[in-house]
Amino acid sequence: MSARLDGLKVFVRTFGCQMNENDSEHIVGVLAAAGAAPAGGPEDADIVIVNTCAVRQKSEEKLYSYLGRLARLRRKRPFLIGVAGCVAQVRGADLAARVPAVDLVIGPDNYLDLPEIIGRAAEAPVVRTDFGRDWREIGPEATARVTPASAFIPVMEGCDNFCAYCIVPYSRGREKFRPLGNVLAEVRSAVAAGGVEVQLLGQNVNSYRDPGSGLGLAGLLEAVAAVPGVEWIRFITSHPKNFGDDIIRVMAACPKICPALHLPVQSGSSRVLARMNRGYDREAYLALVGRLRRAVPDLLLMTDIIVGFPGETEEDFEATCGLLREVGYAGVFSFRYSPRPLTAAAAGPDDVPLEVKRRRLIALQSLQRSLQTGLLRSFVGRELRVLGSGPSPRGGGRFAGRTAGNLVVNFEAPADPSGRFVTVRVGGSGPYSLHGRAVG
Ligand code: 5AD
Ligand code: SF4
Repeated sequence: MSARLDGLKVFVRTFGCQMNENDSEHIVGVLAAAGAAPAGGPEDADIVIVNTCAVRQKSEEKLYSYLGRLARLRRKRPFLIGVAGCVAQVRGADLAARVPAVDLVIGPDNYLDLPEIIGRAAEAPVVRTDFGRDWREIGPEATARVTPASAFIPVMEGCDNFCAYCIVPYSRGREKFRPLGNVLAEVRSAVAAGGVEVQLLGQNVNSYRDPGSGLGLAGLLEAVAAVPGVEWIRFITSHPKNFGDDIIRVMAACPKICPALHLPVQSGSSRVLARMNRGYDREAYLALVGRLRRAVPDLLLMTDIIVGFPGETEEDFEATCGLLREVGYAGVFSFRYSPRPLTAAAAGPDDVPLEVKRRRLIALQSLQRSLQTGLLRSFVGRELRVLGSGPSPRGGGRFAGRTAGNLVVNFEAPADPSGRFVTVRVGGSGPYSLHGRAVG
């Protein structure tokens, strides 16, 4: 029998991307299956697990300051401290040595072993960062969903691309694909639990291949769309170099696939893209955007940008600003380059001065803010289908939700529409969201 944790209370703090949010649902689910109960916060937990992001230096720094807080809290009351996720994977034993308060370090491929590892960590610190070669299935029965109406469904993990700046091939390992049957079983289970939207997750979902049949992402999307009860399908994240026309055709043909894509470009300069080892240039990216928009006319795009990659000139940066103008993104996540361990770019100089990176980031964000404000304004007066997510974080008794195009809408409604679709008449807009009133 596997280790039991009956009576213990667990708190999981999550940093990072949707993949990590979903992994935390697995961590809580696996521990609950072993008898543990959720704690409200670190204050009343017997075990605190920090699920970490390593993608940028800043993400990693957040971990160390949070661990400092936990260590202080533990002077008042004993509890176990575990570090999971990407920092755990890449730092491993060094992390346990650097922060003595840490009792266990566990990489993303080992969560099924958590109950046993926690049992041992009570005696002495444990580090477990093994990588399996095959997909390790954590089924829906060990997934404690935070948002059942909108279910995260992992379909692949890892990355084989080795972009020069990126730590993910080291924190998540080589690409591994989840068998199609397991994906569909989880989709059906999510629908049975009230799911209407599914978000297919992976670091590079476009390279999906069913290990049994070789079926790719296009076929996977069709199979998921055929599951009764699924209304909206998203897939995150796409690599522009693997975006086949078969996927575009399925997006155009299947109304359940949301007209929204996260399509990270990273830079608008072909010279920088080549040095980043992205596998496409500016022209190829823009051509892809053109093909997508012709096939899916109401498509909204989001992207990621890195400013200050080594060797980035003012001219390169201007090319990125020009690309933002040309594409007209609905949202941009932008970051200052920071060198990450093990990556190719970290072997060379980090030669764009910090003040220059700062200035470029501010300029890029203010440009995007004005472009986005214009785009969002074009939705005013329209009626949009919105999936309610709960009370608006902006308060005022309003609710929040998202459109199929993944726009945030804050709206007035007679009753809490969480997990349901409502039609909202858009009365106004800002740089980051729409607002309006539920109709009908
Ligand atoms: N420095 C800055 N940003 C980075 N990203 C990935 N690695 C780095 C790095 N070393 C950004 C990319 C990626 C997003 C998740 O984080 O834009 O798409
Ligand atoms: Fe961060 Fe990447 Fe890990 Fe997600 S997979 S948590 S983005 S480092």
